[in-house]
Amino acid sequence: MFAITNSVGLFGMNAFAVTVEAEVFKGHPQFDLSGLPDAGIKESRDRVKSAASSVGIMFPKGRVLINLAPADVKKSGSSFDLAIFVCLMQAMDLLPVRMPERVFIGELGLHGTVRGVRGVMTMTMLAKKNGFQEIYVPKENIQEAAVIDGIDVYGIESAEELMLHLLNQKRMIPAIHQEIQAQAAEKFLDFSDVRGQFKARSGMELAAAGGHNILLIGSPGSGKSMLANRLPTILPPMTREEILETSNIYSVAGKLSPERPLITKRPFRAPHHTISQAGLTGGGSIPTPGEISLAHNGVLFLDELAEFNRSTLEALRQPLENRKVTISRVSGTSEYPCSFMLTAAMNPCPCGHYGSPVKKCTCTEKQIRKYISRISGPMLERFDMHIDVDPVPYKDLASAEKPETSEQIRMRVEAARHRQEERYQEYGFYCNAMIPDYLLDQFCQMSPEAERLFGRLYEHYQMSARTGMRLKKVARSSADLHGNDLIQKEDISIAVQFRGFNSKYLQ
Ligand SMILES: Nc1ncnc2c1ncn2[C@@H]1O[C@H](COP(=O)(O)OP(=O)(O)OP(=O)(O)O)[C@@H](O)[C@H]1O
Ligand SMILES: [Mg+2]
Ligand SMILES: [Zn+2]
Repeated sequence: MFAITNSVGLFGMNAFAVTVEAEVFKGHPQFDLSGLPDAGIKESRDRVKSAASSVGIMFPKGRVLINLAPADVKKSGSSFDLAIFVCLMQAMDLLPVRMPERVFIGELGLHGTVRGVRGVMTMTMLAKKNGFQEIYVPKENIQEAAVIDGIDVYGIESAEELMLHLLNQKRMIPAIHQEIQAQAAEKFLDFSDVRGQFKARSGMELAAAGGHNILLIGSPGSGKSMLANRLPTILPPMTREEILETSNIYSVAGKLSPERPLITKRPFRAPHHTISQAGLTGGGSIPTPGEISLAHNGVLFLDELAEFNRSTLEALRQPLENRKVTISRVSGTSEYPCSFMLTAAMNPCPCGHYGSPVKKCTCTEKQIRKYISRISGPMLERFDMHIDVDPVPYKDLASAEKPETSEQIRMRVEAARHRQEERYQEYGFYCNAMIPDYLLDQFCQMSPEAERLFGRLYEHYQMSARTGMRLKKVARSSADLHGNDLIQKEDISIAVQFRGFNSKYLQ
C-alpha cells in the first residue's frame, strides 16, 4: 500500500515542508531511502526497525521504499525518524492511511524511545503557517513548540504511546499553550556594587539607552569586567518578539532544554579569547549559529579584546554592520540574525598600567603601539563609545554613599528606549544604534548651536564619515535620556567625550 505523511526539515534557520512517502512491495527484503538524504537519515532504517519491534511489529518481509519529497532539497539530521516510522506503519495498514492534518517530528532511539531534536520551534511555526492542525514533537521539545498558538502540540515519549494515540486506544491531550514572560536579568549582579567610576557608569547608561557598542580601556583591576557584567541589568526586559526570535536561534542551535525551554533573559555571551572564528560567527558542516547569533537581542562581551585572534575579530565587521551573518557551505547558504550590543574590555598595554595615575607602565613605546594595533582601525571605529576606566580612588571605594542601583538606572534607560520605539515604530528598528544611514538626518536633528559645534569638532578631529554618523547616534541617545527631541550642544559634547579622541590610551 502507498502511504504519505508530513514532516518538516531544517536548513540553517529555515524550516521547509517535507512529505514522507512509503510503499511496501513483495520481493527480497530491502530498504531503500530516496530524496537526497544524508548519512544520518540513512541510519534511520535501524532506528525505525527497532521502534517497530518495540511495539511488537515485525519489519515487512518485502522491499520497503521510502521517499522524502521534495527530492531536490538536501535533507539532514535524524528528525524525520518519527514520520518515516508513522508512514511505514500506514503502508503496512497498521495506522489510518490519511492523516493530512498532522505533522511528525522526532528522532527514534533504540526500543522506540523518542529523542529531542534541534529547531522544533522553527518547525512548529512553519507547520502552523502551512495550516496543519496537529504537530507531534519529542516530549523534550514540547515547551518550545507550545509557545506557538493555533496548532495542537503533542509531546511524544515513545513510538508505542504515539501508536496508541493515533489508533484512538489511549488518547493524549495536547500541550497547554505557553504564555511568554520576560525575566529580569541576573539577580546577583547590580550597579550598586560598583563604587565611584562615575564617568564609566554614565557611559554604560548612555550605551544601554541607545544600544551602542562600547570599548572599556583601563588598567588591571579597575573594574572593566565588573562594569560589563552588569550591563544586562540596566537593559530593558526582552519583548515577546525578541524572546521568540532569540529562542528560535537557540532552538536551531540545539541549546534549549526542558530546564531552559525559552530564552526569556537578555543574552549575555562572553566567549573566551581563544574562540575560533567559526565559534564566534557560526559555521560547521551543517551550519550552526555562533556566539554572535546566540547574543542576538543581547550583549556580546569580548573581555581582553587584544588577546583575540586578529582575523577572528575582523570577521565581526560585516555582521556588526548588517546585524545578520551569512554562512556559506557546499550544502547551501544560510543566514542567521545577530543584532547585539558589542561590549569589549582591554588593557592599554602588555603590562596593563599605561596611563594609570597610580602605577608605572614598564612597557616600551613600541610594545604599547603594537598592543593597541592588534585592534584594527576599522574595528575600533565600530565602537560608538570608548570609555577610559581608571582605578577607583580610595575615597570613592571607601565612601559611605551607596551608589545607584541597576533598577534606578534602568528606569531612565527604559524611558529613553520608549521614546525611540515610538519614533521608529514604522521603520522596522527600535533603537538609535540601528538608525540606517539614509534616515540619520531625519532622526538626528540638532539645535543650531549643536549643529555649529558638531561641524567644528568634525573638522578639528578630522573625523571619518562613519565616525561622524556614529557620533550623531550617540548624541541622539543622550538627547533621549534628557527627554529632548532636538539634539542639544551638551549632547554633542557628551558623545564626543566618549569617542576617545582625547583618550590617553588611543593616541
Ligand atoms: N569601582 C569598583 N567598585 C568596587 N569594586 C571594584 C571596583 N573596581 C574594581 N573592583 C574590585 O576589583 C575586582 C576586579 O575588577 P575587574 O575584574 O572588573 O577588573 P578589570 O578592570 O576587568 O581588570 P583586568 O584588566 O585585570 O581584567 C572586582 O571584582 C571588584 O571586586
Ligand atoms: Mg577584566
Ligand atoms: Zn605597560
